Amino acid sequence: MKADVLLGLQWGDEGKGKVVDVLTPRYDVVARFQGGPNAGHTLEFEGKKYVLRSIPSGIFQHDQVNIIGNGVVLDPVLFKEEAEALEKSGVNLRDILKISKKAHLIMPTHRLLDAANERAKAASKIGTTGKGIGPTYTDKISRNGLRLGDALAPDFKERYNAARNRHLSMLDAMGEKPDYNELEQKWLDAIDYMKSYDIIDSEYVINALLDEGKSVLCEGAQGTMLDVDFGSYPFVTSSNTITSGACAGLGIAPTRIGNVFGIFKAYCTRVGSGPFPTELFDETGKTIRDIGHEYGAVTGRERRCGWIDLVALRYAIMINGVNKLIMMKSDVLDSFDSIKACVAYKVNGKETRQLPFDIDRVEIEPVYVTLPGWKTDMTSMQDESEFPAQFKEYIAFLEKELDTPIYIVSTGPDRRQTIFLNR
Ligand code: GDP
Ligand code: IMO
Ligand code: MG
Repeated sequence: MKADVLLGLQWGDEGKGKVVDVLTPRYDVVARFQGGPNAGHTLEFEGKKYVLRSIPSGIFQHDQVNIIGNGVVLDPVLFKEEAEALEKSGVNLRDILKISKKAHLIMPTHRLLDAANERAKAASKIGTTGKGIGPTYTDKISRNGLRLGDALAPDFKERYNAARNRHLSMLDAMGEKPDYNELEQKWLDAIDYMKSYDIIDSEYVINALLDEGKSVLCEGAQGTMLDVDFGSYPFVTSSNTITSGACAGLGIAPTRIGNVFGIFKAYCTRVGSGPFPTELFDETGKTIRDIGHEYGAVTGRERRCGWIDLVALRYAIMINGVNKLIMMKSDVLDSFDSIKACVAYKVNGKETRQLPFDIDRVEIEPVYVTLPGWKTDMTSMQDESEFPAQFKEYIAFLEKELDTPIYIVSTGPDRRQTIFLNR
């Protein structure tokens, strides 16, 4: 069996959590492959709303196995909070969740370093989620990290102390003298809590499940434009959010990848700093934010809003090998008279359909096409046949521009507000 991948094509918050939950009944296994508690994946069903950060969005359906892969970074304290809240709401997490021994641990000092790095960058700060993501992946790549499996070894405390002391001297060099004792005790307690979970060699487990004919859905976090290699560098996260990240973050060979579902909003948002060519600073941007409730699931920060960017989407489709598109939040545009889509950029007076290398420094003028709005409340529609003509035109326009079929349209946050298209 092949593993399918579902990932974000924009700057995150496309609605990955909702769709993973919707697709879960079709799979035996759901696995997160990168990122960590910087993610906030929202699910809504039966009048309840859940925000998942480190735990896969496949935990609420039937009895799927949920795996946190080696590519994920985990903060034990936040994991414990998230897991305990889920257990309280009736999810038997210990029965269904498995965690890779190779997942790297976010230490309290990683969070302190994240904050210190941001302070040092001052006006050019990235606007991180403050969860220690960058410093943890830095330690992984520089071969200084601690992995969850290390917590099972007798010398863990010494290794932890050595890593902490290294971080403290880095902080000291930056003029920071944090009080970490309380944070540390909480963290060590949470490590003990994590040991009660099934900590596994996830690459063996996933490949064995695929060999047995089980189906796997790999759940991405963040989005392609936040990818450390291909996103709007340096205003990115510190992991590979793209399809190849699923291979590296789970130990699945590229030849075992099946469908790649690319998910995008009918407009565009971004949290934190960095380039956003189609950003709207006017009333329309504010209207999108208000109707779409565009505030961060993790930090509560206002999301920047703008029109859909087909230059960035084409790029993301190319990098990920997307074969099925999923369009979210089209309902937010239900009342609009007209809708714009950016089909090209003008850079230094020249029109281009490519993302410029120096996207964070050059002046980009979006080239827009204007389409008529559908002016219809679509939030209770259940079938493609109910779509208004202008909406059908919008879909046809996007499919042509993106050269990829749209497989699902989401018309609201609830599980049921999901329409599968006949493609
Ligand atoms: P994720 O990080 O990709 O999982 O996305 P988030 O959960 O951070 O942000 C998506 C937000 O939009 C959440 O508040 C969802 O409940 C909500 N949402 C998802 N799909 C739709 C939709 O089709 N319409 C509307 N109006 N809201 C949606
Ligand atoms: P989900 O999975 C939106 C952004 C941060 C910041 C940059 C780097 O919910 O889509 P980091 O803390 O990762 O070092 O921050 O990346 N960012 C996200 N934006 N959705 C996310 O996750 C994000 N995770 C990180 O705002 O600009
Ligand atoms: Mg989110």
